[in-house]
Amino acid sequence: MKAEELKRLKGVRKVTMLSAYDYQTAMILDKAGIDIILVGDSLGVVVLGYEDTKQVTMADMTRHVGAVARGAKSAHVVGDMPIASYDNVDDALRNAQTLLDVGADSVKLEGLNRSVIEALTSSGVPVMGHLGLQPQTAEKIKVKGKKVDEAERIYSEAKTLGSLGAYSMVLECVPSKLAEKVTGGVEAITLGIGAGPRCDGQVLIINDMLGMKEGLKFKHVKLYANLSQVISDAVTRYIEDVETGRFPGEEHALG
Ligand code: KIV
Repeated sequence: MKAEELKRLKGVRKVTMLSAYDYQTAMILDKAGIDIILVGDSLGVVVLGYEDTKQVTMADMTRHVGAVARGAKSAHVVGDMPIASYDNVDDALRNAQTLLDVGADSVKLEGLNRSVIEALTSSGVPVMGHLGLQPQTAEKIKVKGKKVDEAERIYSEAKTLGSLGAYSMVLECVPSKLAEKVTGGVEAITLGIGAGPRCDGQVLIINDMLGMKEGLKFKHVKLYANLSQVISDAVTRYIEDVETGRFPGEEHALG
């Protein structure tokens, strides 16, 4: 689906987005009918084992956007621009093109860098903004926009993002009321994460909703599976089978 088609879903039905980082997961999400697959820089934390997203590079993102794009036939693929890849217009245009070249349909950038966003949209690059909590620069993970002045700033940034041509924006960790106000005030589609039920759509990090990390619980996440347990049980059975000689059997021999 193209960015413009996604935008037309505003007010018609909710838009669904999940992160993914590899080819096979992208195929599963695509076949299940997800609208948008975000190759987020959360890659750094959930796949590469970094403490935060600040160490993620263009090389990391390029490899994983390519992998996901090869698995996604219908879903819209968003390539997240990592920290320091869009500090100025030239870098932003070059790095966004790199992500589009490996298969992204649009790019996502945190914050409001007017000249960069304008340069991207006016050269035809579909842009997803990201307001509220911005992990690339945040010192602490906390709700943004609880205070009136901060809420007003986020609202005005959202309006500007929309007027600069962003087709969508993530609202991360903002109060529901603010998310609702932004959603009603912009033509772009809003995708909430920790932003309550009244955005145009929802995004989650796939590892979180599938329960990939044992014991990890977030208030904003609904657990749809407990894959850490499922995988651990399967691996335990495999170890037992190999150690006791139950696997491989003659039926698994290739010759
Ligand atoms: O990197 C990411 O996965 C994101 C989502 C949390 C929206 O930016």
